[in-house]
Amino acid sequence: MTFGERSREAGRMLFYAGKNWITILGFLLTTGTGVSMVIFWGQELVSSRPIHPYAGILLFVMLPGLFVVGLLLMPLGIVLRRRKLKHTGTLPTIYPQVDFTQPAVRHLLLGVGLATAANIIIVGTASFKGVEYMDSTRFCGLTCHTVMQPEYTAFLDSPHSRVGCAQCHIGPGASWFVKSKLSGTRQLFAVLFKTYHRPIEDPVKNLRPARETCEQCHWPNKFTNDKLYIHTKYADDEANTPSTSVLLVKIGGNTALGQVGIHGFHMAAGTTISYVSTDAHRQVIPEVTYRDKTGKVEVFKADGFNAIPAATLAKGETRVMDCIDCHNRPTHEFLLPDRAVDNAMGAGAISPTLPYIKKKAIEVLKVNYPDRNTARQQIPAAITAFYQSSYPAVYQQHQDLVNQAAQSVLAIYLRNIFPAMKVTWGVHPNNLGHDDFPGCFRCHDGSHTAADGTTIPADCDTCHVLLAQDEKDPKILKELDLTQ
Ligand code: HEC
Ligand code: HEC
Ligand code: HEC
Ligand code: HEC
Ligand code: HEC
Repeated sequence: MTFGERSREAGRMLFYAGKNWITILGFLLTTGTGVSMVIFWGQELVSSRPIHPYAGILLFVMLPGLFVVGLLLMPLGIVLRRRKLKHTGTLPTIYPQVDFTQPAVRHLLLGVGLATAANIIIVGTASFKGVEYMDSTRFCGLTCHTVMQPEYTAFLDSPHSRVGCAQCHIGPGASWFVKSKLSGTRQLFAVLFKTYHRPIEDPVKNLRPARETCEQCHWPNKFTNDKLYIHTKYADDEANTPSTSVLLVKIGGNTALGQVGIHGFHMAAGTTISYVSTDAHRQVIPEVTYRDKTGKVEVFKADGFNAIPAATLAKGETRVMDCIDCHNRPTHEFLLPDRAVDNAMGAGAISPTLPYIKKKAIEVLKVNYPDRNTARQQIPAAITAFYQSSYPAVYQQHQDLVNQAAQSVLAIYLRNIFPAMKVTWGVHPNNLGHDDFPGCFRCHDGSHTAADGTTIPADCDTCHVLLAQDEKDPKILKELDLTQ
């Protein structure tokens, strides 16, 4: 048989065996989903509203899925029908003639050709749009609503709220994209079968080395200048007595130039700091290894190192320090109640003129509410009831301030606490600083000593100049003309 005869024979076979319900169903499915996708894409182009995450799943994941199923059903129907005919011995040795001179047949062929071309375009567009959608912040943050609610809420309230989840969690390049989709598939099953951890565990295992993601935007050669840090705390007395700390944080200079300040010492080219941690949150660090530019290596061991059982050390994690060993909460920061209330009081959202408001707010925030809705009812009610019964005159005169404070305390709760995911006060420690969590003092505690007796520096002026510590009306703020 010549090639022409063979392809004519195959064409006739396809025509003959193609008349079966599986192939026709595949054809209908492909056409139906294909047309709906094109209509949706058109609508998406003209609509200004973002797509709801569940509609997104339908549109970008399920419809293309059905489309591909349809495409696969078409040849499958033909194969199955041929096999069946062969089995029953009714497969014709010569297929009925297909008369290409008939207009109906030619139209059909033209239709199939055009549909195939359209299908290729649709599959291409659908995969592109699907990938784009699955990298979008709304997909990551909203699809598994309860599971991601804590991280998404914190993200929306952070300096990075306009940075996509994928820019930190995946970063550029194809290999991390594939890795993330594989782990994403695992996570999808974890969500379906509710086997995920509550709270979602930190640190994130296998997070991409931070320098490959953060440094896409933050250029280490530009980490210059010191930073003025001002923080006011309020006491839990009747007057909510304020005290302010003012520091000049030595963030440090150009890491390419070498060791200046905080960034310079940890991130300078040619130096590495690695450490062993023995707990799940990398909070306990018994051993630190420091290799400087000249290649000199120093191993610092914490007091009590020799008392640590060998088995505990062997199970420990060894890690090279990067950005997220300090900035582990650049966008998912969960505050402790003290700091959250201080911040709200400093900003005026909770008025410091209300007697005992600091103490009362903390007390109300620390109650273990079964869910967020209960908190929505009980927190504002508890604050108002306190002033109604203990300070009726204040309540009469400043009802607006009391109501505002009540709502602000509730807002602090809703921003930080997610009982359904077991995210409560302090479950996600922040490593930047040392006031609320061990942070820098995990290593800079004066107890980490090398063989030659030197320690990782822990003097109070190593990392910042203390311009004022817990002072009422610090003089320095007047000198800098920074008082309100
Ligand atoms: C600025 C970078 C950045 C952005 C943007 C970002 N993340 Fe994260 N994310 C991190 C870092 C860093 C960690 C903590 C890593 C660690 O401790 O190991 C983290 C941790 C997490 C965790 C683990 C639980 C936890 O709280 O530690 C989840 C879940 C998560 N992110 C989801 C998201 C989602 C969803 C988005 C988008 C809505 C997002 N992230 C956007 C940097 C980012
Ligand atoms: C896509 C760009 C982008 C990426 C990726 C990114 N950031 Fe940022 N980051 C920004 C921008 C923009 C700001 C400034 C926001 C502002 O000033 O309000 C910022 C601010 C910051 C700040 C200052 C926050 C503050 O409170 O003033 C820190 C610290 C920071 N980023 C750390 C990180 C770390 C750590 C990573 C990697 C895990 C990272 N960023 C990844 C864009 C990015
Ligand atoms: C040893 C701890 C440590 C490491 C490692 C570290 N930082 Fe920082 N970084 C700090 C501290 C402390 C500050 C100042 C505190 C603050 O902003 O509240 C800071 C400030 C910043 C700022 C804000 C600068 C400004 O002017 O406000 C950015 C951006 C930043 N770091 C990015 C990074 C990136 C990117 C990396 C990784 C290449 C990194 N840092 C590594 C401790 C660290
Ligand atoms: C994993 C351990 C570790 C952590 C966590 C850590 N550091 Fe360091 N740091 C080191 C080591 C090691 C050195 C180098 C010590 C030396 O100079 O011998 C160093 C050096 C420094 C220096 C330079 C000290 C000097 O000699 O002038 C500064 C400043 C500094 N760190 C700030 C910080 C700050 C701020 C944090 C928290 C945000 C922090 N470090 C967290 C291990 C750590
Ligand atoms: C290894 C570095 C390091 C050392 C050593 C260190 N600090 Fe700090 N300290 C920090 C950082 C980082 C912050 C947080 C700054 C920020 O978030 O921008 C901080 C914050 C503070 C604050 C403000 C707390 C607040 O939020 O109100 C005070 C007060 C303070 N330090 C006092 C001290 C004193 C006193 C010592 C000596 C016992 C000391 N520090 C040693 C790094 C250090």
